Amino acid sequence: MTVKVIVGTQWGDEGKGKITDILAEKMELVIRYQGGNNAGHTVVVGNETFKLHLIPSGILYNNCTCIIGNGVVLDPEVFFQEIETLAKQNVIITPKQLNVSCNAHIILPFHKQLDSKQEAKRYEEKIGTTGKGIGPTYADKTARRGIRVQDLLSPKNFKKKLEKQQWEQHLPNITKADIENIYNHYLKLGKKLKPFICDTSLTINEAINEGKNILLEGAQGTMLDIDHGSYPYVTSSNPTSGGACIGAGIGPNKISGVIGVTKAYVTRVGEGPFPTEQENQIGKHLQERGAEFGTTTGRIRRCGWLDLVILRYAIRINGITEICLTKLDVLDHMETIQVCTGYKTQDGIINEFPQDLETFTNCSPIYESLPGWKTDISTLTSYQDLPKNAKAYIQYIEKKVGVEITMVSVGSKRRQTIHLLRV
Ligand code: GDP
Ligand code: IMO
Ligand code: MG
Repeated sequence: MTVKVIVGTQWGDEGKGKITDILAEKMELVIRYQGGNNAGHTVVVGNETFKLHLIPSGILYNNCTCIIGNGVVLDPEVFFQEIETLAKQNVIITPKQLNVSCNAHIILPFHKQLDSKQEAKRYEEKIGTTGKGIGPTYADKTARRGIRVQDLLSPKNFKKKLEKQQWEQHLPNITKADIENIYNHYLKLGKKLKPFICDTSLTINEAINEGKNILLEGAQGTMLDIDHGSYPYVTSSNPTSGGACIGAGIGPNKISGVIGVTKAYVTRVGEGPFPTEQENQIGKHLQERGAEFGTTTGRIRRCGWLDLVILRYAIRINGITEICLTKLDVLDHMETIQVCTGYKTQDGIINEFPQDLETFTNCSPIYESLPGWKTDISTLTSYQDLPKNAKAYIQYIEKKVGVEITMVSVGSKRRQTIHLLRV
């Protein structure tokens, strides 16, 4: 039996969807435990590309049940749209294969409006959110006035909660008729959602007791974590492994391992500090070769060199037990590869992620250079066949961070994956 958590070690888009899909083949449950449809997880099977936002990336296997846990914020319209899109790609989803927690919080159209309004007006610094209503929905959850999935099943409760929200105060254009329309529309969506809804913590814990293989699929990444990331340039949930226990309703003693998904370089969408960012030809090359466009918003991703300071930090915060290194093929044409090992600050050199944003914003990275391999590795399937310098890059990272790399991804397809058996 294994209960493993998948976490991104950077600012998201590390390739968690691909790795989840690869591992899901042997899993009986795949669970999303936080975030919402701000996530965009890509899975490529043959010539078909699946873009998953809310539905877990285990959904492509018939033997796998997927769960949207209590820690997720759920947009019911997106939920059914995604099911429809998948049906067009011949992935038919029934409530037997997909469960939704009765305690997950609901994203309403007002949350989305607030998201864009807050981005435009309330803060001096723009965060560059995905605009999906994630922040305002989690804010309502924390303020104890949120609307949960189970409320959609109870007309009386739903009405009372909707009216208590006083949306008009924040969104002056909203009328009573708008709220009435939302009430009627979301009650209908609640009815449609009913067969999917259950106490998912119970389902998950029963599966654990039966010795099933379980994967908890994190969205976003460590540096976007509301507690541990580059606050305030973060999302509003805990993508880190601790969030998996809370967002799925399981005890920490049930987790048997934490898989860190690490891109061979770093990307970031939205605003905020990014010490190893390359606003030059190197960044452009990574962006183009890595096709670094946001899966959810289509925005161009900022690109830069691998940062071992934040990788070590992610290992510490998440208790990472193994690393999957992705997109190594994107570095194929590099003459030299730079890796950041520490930061120069006003107060000297530091090797740990600084907790104050100002130091993080103003630090300059210290690099070590490694030779590139200048070979196409995208068709390779065994570690032994990798060029010497690619092996050296993998071993260098392992040595510097003290955690084993167990999988290397060299392309978006399933077969472009190297399982590392080095004996
Ligand atoms: P996620 O949010 O962590 O699931 O990552 P995304 O799906 O947003 O972004 C990763 C992108 O890289 C997707 O388009 C994947 O298909 C692609 N991808 C994943 N692994 C590899 C890889 O090893 N090499 C290349 N070239 N592309 C990859
Ligand atoms: P996956 O799961 C990359 C970023 C946004 C913004 C910040 C806050 O695909 O890795 P939000 O809408 O969550 O309030 O935005 O977080 N962000 C992501 N960046 N990958 C993601 O998800 C992200 N989800 C949110 O760009 O900077
Ligand atoms: Mg993504």
